Amino acid sequence: MRVLGIETSCDETGVAVFDDRRGLLAHQLYSQFGIHADFGGVVPELASRDHIRKLLPMIRRVLEEAGISLEELDGIAYTEGPGLIGALMVAAAVARGLGFATGLPVVGVHHLEGHLLSPMLEEPAPPLPFVALLVSGGHTMLVEVADVGRYRVLGETLDDAAGEAFDKTAKLLGLPYPGGPELARLAENGRPGRFEFPRPLLDRPDCDFSFSGLKTAVMYAVRDTDLDDQVRADIALAFQAAVVETLIAKCLRAMEQTAIPRLVVAGGVSANRELRTRLAQTVGEEGGEVYFPRPEFCTDNGAMIAYAGLLRLRHDVGEEHTLAARARWSLADLRAPQDPAAAQ
Ligand code: KG4
Ligand code: ZN
Repeated sequence: MRVLGIETSCDETGVAVFDDRRGLLAHQLYSQFGIHADFGGVVPELASRDHIRKLLPMIRRVLEEAGISLEELDGIAYTEGPGLIGALMVAAAVARGLGFATGLPVVGVHHLEGHLLSPMLEEPAPPLPFVALLVSGGHTMLVEVADVGRYRVLGETLDDAAGEAFDKTAKLLGLPYPGGPELARLAENGRPGRFEFPRPLLDRPDCDFSFSGLKTAVMYAVRDTDLDDQVRADIALAFQAAVVETLIAKCLRAMEQTAIPRLVVAGGVSANRELRTRLAQTVGEEGGEVYFPRPEFCTDNGAMIAYAGLLRLRHDVGEEHTLAARARWSLADLRAPQDPAAAQ
């Protein structure tokens, strides 16, 4: 079975073809960073317009790279939500339009399910069940994944997402958008021990997160210190250490609570090198295993949507013809694909 995956939920246009026997046949990613950089964040209307410009030529190129025609596909998957509604509508309209024209089944995919399952694109794929840490610009959550579509949220952020905290802190340090990777780069030159920031909610026995206090602590440090390049790097390092330590502690807690020794980490922040190294080391010391997608599949991409869509299309014939897009959509509302209640 071969599925075309289309992702346009935010500021990245992603297209891919996944084949269940041969794996990923082709994928393309276009990032709109240049368009939004001057504004310091994503401008939704500019995002939608650019997806419109890029999407069809990218689909053509991906099919060419995969060496197949549209008719040789078995289905089309697109990100139905959550995300920016105008941006989501672009993939929804194109995917449904292609579906009408070809008669291929079309399925709307939950963006976070795409991220959750993205480590399954790698070799070796994590065996089910596993605990997943989802850390992106919009979400920070720990999820027990019993099977595809069987998710239990163990904890989530009470305020800012981890990626959002990276981006806001980067802004305080005068770094350009998108700040997360820039801050991580700056932290490489930081000296440990110069600043100490709080590890929020570590004293609580649950798996919830909070990052807004940490951001405020950085704000005071920036306000009360003479900033030069070295000091900015020192602050970046201390901030990153606080986020990484907090994430690791809560991951260990979730693994202990569920007695599942496998952890999957996905979403944009899982590209962070410090987080990857420290998590692999700590979880390994505890006798567990940790799985990451390759860095290019940590952030938004079409491959994860093609893959999650394929798993759903195997069971669901995609007979729904509505042009569905949802700005808000809880992961807890998803059902397993073989479950009759899954058609929604
Ligand atoms: O998953 P994603 O591409 O989009 C959302 O669905 O939100 O995640 C983007 C987030 C941004 O906040 C970005 O700053 C952060 O992931 N990010 C990073 C790194 N690479 C991306 N944060 C820290 N370190 C990185 N290397
Ligand atoms: Zn994402």
